[in-house]
Amino acid sequence: MSSIVEIKNLVRAFKMGDETVKALNDISFTIDPGEFISIMGSSGSGKTTLLNILGCLDKPTSGEYFLDGTNVGKLSKNELAALRNRKLGFVFQSYNLLARTSAIENVELPLLYNNEISAKERKEKALSALEAVKLTNRMHHLPSQLSGGQQQRVAIARALVNDPVMILADEATGNLDSRTSYEIMMLIQELNNVHGKTIVFVTHEPDIASFTKRTITLRDGRIIKDDVNNNVRKARDVLQNLPVLTE
Ligand SMILES: Nc1ncnc2c1ncn2[C@@H]1O[C@H](COP(=O)(O)OP(=O)(O)OP(=O)(O)O)[C@@H](O)[C@H]1O
Ligand SMILES: [Mg+2]
Repeated sequence: MSSIVEIKNLVRAFKMGDETVKALNDISFTIDPGEFISIMGSSGSGKTTLLNILGCLDKPTSGEYFLDGTNVGKLSKNELAALRNRKLGFVFQSYNLLARTSAIENVELPLLYNNEISAKERKEKALSALEAVKLTNRMHHLPSQLSGGQQQRVAIARALVNDPVMILADEATGNLDSRTSYEIMMLIQELNNVHGKTIVFVTHEPDIASFTKRTITLRDGRIIKDDVNNNVRKARDVLQNLPVLTE
């Protein structure tokens, strides 16, 4: 089994005037297919910087990054964008949906860059991604007509539609109340367990990290812990045990 991600001695330095800040300082790890990893650490520890590099949105200052066998450091900007589009799906805290565009059209967007896919195929793929997040009944709604949790499910469907090798999420439950966060975690656990998707999930909440199978903890740009979670919580169970709100 070959790894999806291989990172060796990765450094990302930012120059600020005379000073250089190493947001990532000699990081090495691998990710295998089917893993569900949380990246934890306090504010400024380097989580977003790492996710941006994993997502080919940014390049390391030094060190190596192989994504699904491709040496990312050697690629041009255009090649990087193509790799990103083909291999990765993204979910952000603020959903990043197009406002005047229906749910299904938002999900179709990543496929528009691929001229081998017909309009009919595009619709079919978008529909099955919306099915995976259980939102086909809202496919013609605009983002403003959806709840926060529903908007995040559209964003997850959009991340899935290309059948990426890995899904990257940055504080994807950060704007949601706890019940909705658990619903999103239940969905993501299902994508990992049932559909076999490889997922990297940045969060600063230990409660959310407890639903993932492995946790990498950063401090000052270094990995201080990389633990397998032997007692993964099931979001489905947590939801079932939440008290019912009465109004
Ligand atoms: N574009 C940039 N230019 C200069 N410094 C940066 C840049 N991006 C990040 N940094 C610095 O790198 C460090 C890590 O930032 P990063 O955004 O990765 O933290 P984080 O762990 O995601 O924090 P948070 O939990 O607040 O989102 C910080 O010290 C930050 O100031
Ligand atoms: Mg961040």
